[in-house]
Amino acid sequence: MQTDRLDMIISYINCDVAADIGTDHGYIPVELVCSQRAKRVIATDVRRGPLDAAKRRIEKHGCADRIELRLGSGLLPIGPGECETIIISGMGGELICDILARGESVAKAADCLLLQPMNSQDMLRKFLYTHGYEIIKEDIAVEGFKVYNLIIARSGKAVMPEDEFFLHLPQSLYGHRYFPQLLEKKKREFSKILNGLGKAKIPHSKEIERYKELYRRVCELEGKI
Ligand SMILES: C[S@@+](CC[C@H](N)C(=O)[O-])C[C@H]1O[C@@H](n2cnc3c(N)ncnc32)[C@H](O)[C@@H]1O
Repeated sequence: MQTDRLDMIISYINCDVAADIGTDHGYIPVELVCSQRAKRVIATDVRRGPLDAAKRRIEKHGCADRIELRLGSGLLPIGPGECETIIISGMGGELICDILARGESVAKAADCLLLQPMNSQDMLRKFLYTHGYEIIKEDIAVEGFKVYNLIIARSGKAVMPEDEFFLHLPQSLYGHRYFPQLLEKKKREFSKILNGLGKAKIPHSKEIERYKELYRRVCELEGKI
């Protein structure tokens, strides 16, 4: 199954050995070896069911000699230096942070981390900046109303932006052709948070002000592009 989201991720890979964490149906590893973007892939999942589905797909495409399946959580089934590229995609940003924290020696030994968080992108960027990673590049894919972020990182030193706004909307994405769609997504996200805060029984006046300001700045930016 090829989608713009998966195509975006795959387009950044060109290596000998890649690891796909949380492979599910094995779309990424099969595409990587079939298109010769990776010679070999280690595909992992925390659940047996997805690995069985991946196995069927790999056999159907005749690439079982180039894809190794491993059962286990996060980066635990991978040894440090075993792969150049690590893909962690289609999961929540918080879970990706947790996987990187628990598998730090493996993550830091890789040349490149391709991270595609489905939410909490700001939390993931903050984690990367505060745990010795640099963000090399960011990209966006759009499928209908869905907007997907890709964050490419590696071990290195980087300065975290002081302004929280740039953790939500990094300046490197401002010229991107899908930046207007990303702004729309952030407006929807901040509106939803404000709605929830407004309904809460305990008053959250500071948080409400914080998100109102973030929302206002997104609108301001929208007016400038
Ligand atoms: C929504 S799918 C994403 C599949 C694929 N990576 C993609 O981008 O389309 C999430 C997969 O991650 C797996 N998963 C969840 N937590 C995990 C963890 N801690 N370690 C490894 N895999 C995990 C789930 O079992 C599921 O197969």
